[in-house]
Amino acid sequence: MTAPTLAVDFGTSNSAAAIMVDGKVRRLQLEAGADTLPTAVFLPSDGGPMLIGRQAETALTEGDAGRYMRALKSVLGTPLFHESRMIGGRRRAISDIVTALLAQLKLRAELAADARFSHVLSGRPVHFHSSDAGRDAQAEADLRSCYLAAGFESVAFMAEPEAAALATSGTDGLSELRMIVDIGGGTSDFSVVRTGPHGVEVVASHGIRLGGTDFDQAISMAHAMPAFGLGGQLRRTFGDGLLPVPRALFSDLATWAMIPFLYTRETERAVADLVRHAVQPLPLQRLGAVIEHRLGHDLAFAVERGKIAANAAKAGACIDLGGIERGLTVPLSAGLMNAALAPMCVTLRTAMYETLFHAKVPAGSISAIVLVGGSSMMSLIEAEARSVCLAARVIWSEAFTAVVDGLALATTRLSDKP
Ligand SMILES: Nc1ncnc2c1ncn2[C@@H]1O[C@H](COP(=O)(O)OP(=O)(O)OP(=O)(O)O)[C@@H](O)[C@H]1O
Ligand SMILES: [Mg+2]
Repeated sequence: MTAPTLAVDFGTSNSAAAIMVDGKVRRLQLEAGADTLPTAVFLPSDGGPMLIGRQAETALTEGDAGRYMRALKSVLGTPLFHESRMIGGRRRAISDIVTALLAQLKLRAELAADARFSHVLSGRPVHFHSSDAGRDAQAEADLRSCYLAAGFESVAFMAEPEAAALATSGTDGLSELRMIVDIGGGTSDFSVVRTGPHGVEVVASHGIRLGGTDFDQAISMAHAMPAFGLGGQLRRTFGDGLLPVPRALFSDLATWAMIPFLYTRETERAVADLVRHAVQPLPLQRLGAVIEHRLGHDLAFAVERGKIAANAAKAGACIDLGGIERGLTVPLSAGLMNAALAPMCVTLRTAMYETLFHAKVPAGSISAIVLVGGSSMMSLIEAEARSVCLAARVIWSEAFTAVVDGLALATTRLSDKP
């Protein structure tokens, strides 16, 4: 008997693997007790073995010496993906790191399933890069070459929302039009599908490069970074007048994938220079401490936790920056957060209308909205989708595993092909 095809959802924030066994989806535990694995790595400075998933997060929180990286998927298709740099005591490129991550994922899946996998069906966003077709094609080529280098012999791709449609439709046998709304860490994907007693037909799919990590960035820039000097002013070295503190460094610090690249002598010198010229040096001194003590990810995690708490409308929700400076917090109510995310909501709503336009169906004909992906748990996503498809009811899928379940279901179609 040939080994089944391994289904892999390689996500910006979380990854998962599954196979079909006796006609049913079996998720493979890549870590004990969990159906998903954080898409994160930790490269120890002493050149020791790379850690992945929760072990990587533990190494970061315990302050081990080394380089933590997350949101690697968002670098696919960019020149940075192939640039080699000193990372974790060795020269390597992000492509090498993604390959090593996929090789470990393959090995763990094989141990969990007690089988060898040569073929993989991987999810991909509808667009890795929404406004650059060349980069988009390059991103898929980059991911394919990483799977091949990780030991797979063949690689097939399927659009993530279409996989989610397979997993979330068909069980109730209802004949209707549905819109799948899959908002993950890096991308937002939409499919209009027609469900019926014989399965699911994809009418149209559309996607944009915008996800929960972009929400984190927007919230961080609006609410966290001012505590580190953003919005402050600098005295000129020569002459009178004040200059605004430049934004670029803060923008990188608020971007998950860019944080590790800030830990250089050059950045330390640049921040020291800002402190010297600052009208209010204290916030920029904090920035200096973040760079010097490599606390950028702690800051990003604090913002992400603040986002989730504000979304849950917890009273007194805040961004707790106590891990950076004792007692430092920034208030973050749902209202403040939603105001920071308002421009992104407009972009998401426009993308939903574009999806309906591609599908050539009126919004009123959508009977159900299927919410998929961790960021679809944001109340404002549900509100946007409801405001577009006014007649639709909302179906909550399994946010973190609907894509991998659907990919596993789709592997049977691959093996049916002659
Ligand atoms: N309870 C929650 N409320 C709001 N957002 C959440 C919640 N839990 C997780 N998230 C966000 O969901 C995102 C991760 O979702 P998910 O695991 O579906 O993404 P992904 O599949 O890895 O990414 P992509 O599909 O874009 O590559 C993160 O940005 C995270 O902050
Ligand atoms: Mg996803």
